[in-house]
Amino acid sequence: MTLRIGVIGTGAIGKDHIRRINEVLTGGKVIAVADICEAGPKAIAEKYGVKTYKNGADLINDPEVDAIVVTTPGFAHKDPVLQAIAAGKPVFTEKPLSTTAADCKEIVNAEIAGGKHLVQVGFMRRYDKGYNQVKAMLDSGEFGVPLILHCTHRNPEVDTSYTTPMAVHDTAIHEIDVLHWLIDDEYESAQVIMPVSTKYTHSKLKDPQLMILRTKKGICIEIEVFVNCEVVCEDGVVKMPAPSTPITRKNGLLSTGIETNWKNRFIDAYDVELQDWINSAGKGEINGPTAWDGYLASMTADALVKAQTSGAIEPITTGEMPEFYAK
Ligand code: NAI
Repeated sequence: MTLRIGVIGTGAIGKDHIRRINEVLTGGKVIAVADICEAGPKAIAEKYGVKTYKNGADLINDPEVDAIVVTTPGFAHKDPVLQAIAAGKPVFTEKPLSTTAADCKEIVNAEIAGGKHLVQVGFMRRYDKGYNQVKAMLDSGEFGVPLILHCTHRNPEVDTSYTTPMAVHDTAIHEIDVLHWLIDDEYESAQVIMPVSTKYTHSKLKDPQLMILRTKKGICIEIEVFVNCEVVCEDGVVKMPAPSTPITRKNGLLSTGIETNWKNRFIDAYDVELQDWINSAGKGEINGPTAWDGYLASMTADALVKAQTSGAIEPITTGEMPEFYAK
């Protein structure tokens, strides 16, 4: 049976997920789209013959729509996710689950009250081959207990609307989710160290930033904001290489390319992630990151943003995971 999917938000990643579902993956089909702007849905309707809505709630309540994908900006995730839960329909929402921990908790509570696992959050790094290989090596125990994680990110550029807190909410949020999953641990405290800023930044962005997370088992994580990851364990080191590109030899130089576009870097992970969601949502299950994972990420992000201005080590207090989310 084909899962009939409605997509709310037809911007950059919304369009990419629609292409992915209709042209690459199997078992699902986008049959309806909604956006507050008319241009996005119109272009998609012309290409795929889908129904269009101005209002996400109308799309969710369309009886022909079996499952929902939310790709609006983060501040507009909460309402459609809650509406999908109320309608009893599976919902895949892009990260973040919502922009505040209080909103995320509201979603967690609504899902628990409904008694059905319906929400998956788009933390696609858990589906990335490299991260899964590192996790398998750590889980094998061959390298001993993880002690320190070094993670680095080099963004070629961001535009002037990108501000200091966005380095956490938009960028490090992926690391926040994937790293505790990688080492099977929970965060306890957050700290941000601000070195002198580069001349290439603007007045509202402190860049670079060094984020330090400490886990309950005492592992120290240092994020020079993301993508590559090296785990120092007591008996060895596990380092994830950058995806391979051809090495060229010319004019006395050996050169290799660097992937600077996140869409290409994680293209396989997005495909595997959404295929898994289509397969599991069709069976009334959720395999991927849950609403509780979205809440944990939001609590951690809030502590990091607080640490950006306080300069102090901020505690992270999430409370016990509800039994509902125990795997
Ligand atoms: P975008 O700004 O390109 O597109 C957002 C679309 O949502 C626009 O077409 C806008 O008109 C529409 N929209 C806004 N409010 C709406 C509402 N209330 N109802 C219906 N439509 C509404 O944004 P982009 O880059 O596509 O990002 C969307 C989400 O995806 C964000 O949460 C972002 O963090 C996430 N994202 C995740 C990535 C990942 O690696 N997993 C990568 C890029 C984005």
